[in-house]
Amino acid sequence: MYLFNSLLFSKNHEPKGKVKTFKSKIAYGYIWVCLDDNPRIEIPFIDEAFQESYSLVHEFHEIWQVNPFRVMENELDMAHPSFVHTATFGDQGSLIPDYLQVWEVENGIEVKAQLGVKNCQAQTKQTNISETTRLITAKWYMPLVCKLRIDYPNGISHIIVNMHTPINDKQSLMNQFILRNDLTNFKSVIDLDRKITLEDKYVLEACHNFDFPLDIKEEEHMYTDRPGILIRKKLRQLMEGQ
Ligand SMILES: [Fe+2]
Repeated sequence: MYLFNSLLFSKNHEPKGKVKTFKSKIAYGYIWVCLDDNPRIEIPFIDEAFQESYSLVHEFHEIWQVNPFRVMENELDMAHPSFVHTATFGDQGSLIPDYLQVWEVENGIEVKAQLGVKNCQAQTKQTNISETTRLITAKWYMPLVCKLRIDYPNGISHIIVNMHTPINDKQSLMNQFILRNDLTNFKSVIDLDRKITLEDKYVLEACHNFDFPLDIKEEEHMYTDRPGILIRKKLRQLMEGQ
């Protein structure tokens, strides 16, 4: 302790140097750091993480060569499973969702959709269903957290929470955990999510588009891009507010 004090303080107890500190909190097994003086938006509250019937399982922590807003947009794009997830659950007979509702909430957007899916063998084993409709409730928490809740008819809920940390203009750190309300073999769940996530990564990284234009006229959009359009609107408002 004496040595430590002598390194940091002079004999008259004046500090010899200082270390910049940041406000931080621990949530869901991660350290969340605020680089500004105060956070503008609170850490997302994921209610199932506080319910005893759910288990929290950490899945992935890796660098992606992608603009992280493209990942958020992709998560809420209900048209992409039928052509991106062809080896896992995408159903080319269900190109668009049966219904899609999107609305703004404070600091984010919410999405409700019903989508026809075809489960691969691994997923059929987990859910006892080969062909089904998937009820999806999703929320985007500004700026870079997305929660996807999938409810199956057999009562299983699979909740995916995806968080991206920008590293530079071309890379971001992808973190993902899940919440499950069944005591299943989590290794098989993680193995399947690995395949699904790699399908997304493959397509997103192949786009080589590291920009994310907030002006919707700069890219073509269709009916199922409504979540992406609202993401852009909320980000524009955030920037104008600054
Ligand atoms: Fe996907």
